[in-house]
Amino acid sequence: MEIVLDHLTKKFPGRGKNRQEVIAVNDFTFTIPDGKLAALLGPSGCGKSTTLNMICGLLAPTSGEIFFGDNNVTALPPEERGVGMVFQNYALYPHMTVEQNIRFPLENFRGKDRLSKEAMKERVLEAAKLVHIEELLERKPSELSGGQQQRVAIARSLVKLPKVLLLDEPLSNLDARLRLATREEIRRIQQETRITTVFVTHDQDEAMSISDLIVVMKEGVLQQVDSPQKVYDDPANQFVAQFLGTPPINMFDGELKDGQLWIAGEPVLRVAEGESVPEGQVSVGIRPEGFILLEDGAMHNEMVRPEITGRDVSVIFRNKAAKTDVVRSIISAEDWNHISGGEVHFDLKPAKVYLFAPESGERIRLKLEPLAQSAPQPETKAQTAAVPGLAEETAEDTGEAETMEEKTVEEIPVSARVIPQVMALEAREQMAAAVQSASAADAGGDAMELGRMQTTFTALNADGQSAEVVLETDAVDTYIAVDTYIKEGEL
Ligand SMILES: Nc1ncnc2c1ncn2[C@@H]1O[C@H](COP(=O)(O)OP(=O)(O)O)[C@@H](O)[C@H]1O
Ligand SMILES: [Mg+2]
Repeated sequence: MEIVLDHLTKKFPGRGKNRQEVIAVNDFTFTIPDGKLAALLGPSGCGKSTTLNMICGLLAPTSGEIFFGDNNVTALPPEERGVGMVFQNYALYPHMTVEQNIRFPLENFRGKDRLSKEAMKERVLEAAKLVHIEELLERKPSELSGGQQQRVAIARSLVKLPKVLLLDEPLSNLDARLRLATREEIRRIQQETRITTVFVTHDQDEAMSISDLIVVMKEGVLQQVDSPQKVYDDPANQFVAQFLGTPPINMFDGELKDGQLWIAGEPVLRVAEGESVPEGQVSVGIRPEGFILLEDGAMHNEMVRPEITGRDVSVIFRNKAAKTDVVRSIISAEDWNHISGGEVHFDLKPAKVYLFAPESGERIRLKLEPLAQSAPQPETKAQTAAVPGLAEETAEDTGEAETMEEKTVEEIPVSARVIPQVMALEAREQMAAAVQSASAADAGGDAMELGRMQTTFTALNADGQSAEVVLETDAVDTYIAVDTYIKEGEL
């Protein structure tokens, strides 16, 4: 059943001295296609419940209309709309069994709609099976977990075979693990039944994970109605960009000048040919995955600390133009070896960078591109860029560099591979072990200086040739490698 909201508005009269009326829902027009799950998403007080209650019929709109398919239901009472409703608090009858609770809505059917005892029993069993609680039918609500109680509430809303299912923050009372499991359940049930569903939540992660369509709202005003991917990739404004995404988008003060985007006095991207550039201040949003770690990256930042989450590494850094104290980037573990010392440099992925008007937060749509390519670097330099000591040596003498390259390039992946393994380890002994297991031998010669630690070990390449390698680590919470280089290139 398609749901259409047409210029729907709800105003509440003001209370107290100034009697300022509240426009809880301001002129909402959108369509939820038949069989889809739409999430109403926004911070507390933005009008989600008010919208849902109007769709359900518990609240009459101040103006505007609601259609179920071709049917104008605006004036219909809730019981004639064919909706099932689930609330945050499960609202089960404590003195009734699970079976009686689920059956309750059917008991209200009168006249020709009245079902026989057997038909009711069958319907209750069907609904219970759908939410996987058929073995709990004899229990009382007090004998169930929160997640099971919410399933009973969902079964009760489904037993009348509604054309529309409405759920108002149904997972809020569940603990974190149950919340995850139950949201998967709701998605499964919705996909099996194909009932058009409206799901209210303030949790962007929840909305992103289960819905076909996200309706983003703020203070009673519609911000964007799109698929989760589209809302994330192409936010209508700064509010939407900041509300969706974990970790959240990073905000910077920026400037458009000379056909380039500047952050903290550095050009970081350029505006594509043919775009007219409105010069001046902009707010810049950069998704955590929008940073490319590079030795000679355009954006210079102060390194704070890395965080290891398994496959990815989160690099926390500072930039004086950032609107937050620290900025969080997510890079893949392979790029890790580009970090050296107290600075991190990034190039930016243009598709992950968004511009907004500083005052209104409206999106400024400009096609951005990487800065002009710098002169192509000799291949040896590019390959050894991660190993500063080496890069200098190879560049020094081109005659010797060729033979150097042959030998050392093989060696670099060894040291590069060592690093992600080492990062996760907590003890120096384990670090030495990891170094050895990565085909390097003879760890030793540790020295502490100013919170940093150097481990010198001898790495072997495939031919059994050896080189002395210095692994520098920064002791933050764990021992974390921030740099490695080959001290003596005598291979
Ligand atoms: N019955 C009411 N009387 C007056 N104001 C109300 C009433 N219900 C909701 N509001 C106001 O309308 C706004 C939207 O509320 P609501 O729809 O409950 O938000 P949400 O569900 O998104 O948290 C809020 O400012 C709230 O205080
Ligand atoms: Mg609410």
